[in-house]
Amino acid sequence: MKVYLYEKIWMWGSALLIVAFLGSLLATTFGLGIRPPSHVETIDPKAVRTDPRFAASGVTVRPDGSVRVVALAQIWAFVPNEIRVPAGRPVTFRVTSPDVLHGFQIVGTNVNAMVAPGYVSQVTTTFHRPGEYLIVCNEYCGLGHHVMAGKLIVEAAP
Ligand code: CUA
Repeated sequence: MKVYLYEKIWMWGSALLIVAFLGSLLATTFGLGIRPPSHVETIDPKAVRTDPRFAASGVTVRPDGSVRVVALAQIWAFVPNEIRVPAGRPVTFRVTSPDVLHGFQIVGTNVNAMVAPGYVSQVTTTFHRPGEYLIVCNEYCGLGHHVMAGKLIVEAAP
């Protein structure tokens, strides 16, 4: 069977595309740390405010130096609205919703989670660049969706 030049070009072209797609997947997964959060933990959305896991929202530093952030995404604000974490240390966000579906995206970082009522969304990341970051809700959640924003302040390590 004779293979024509155009066939060869298309074969190599499609092989190159596959390599490029796989390469971009590997680069974003391992290079940039972008991957969907896969933490499955349930919570009763009606009892969020009395649940011990969410009784106190805010930032705590654990004995090993890692940081834990407990937050609520609710109509139409993040609680707490301003979060301060240190740079260069693993930060674990735990977010849930007492009402409807929200998003928790920290613009310019790899943190982007869906916050569904009934589930605890958990994401761990390390911020290397100190500065102010915008937290936005990226799931339409009603009339005030467009004003639902918060602030993350990454402080330089002392
Ligand atoms: Cu919360 Cu959109």
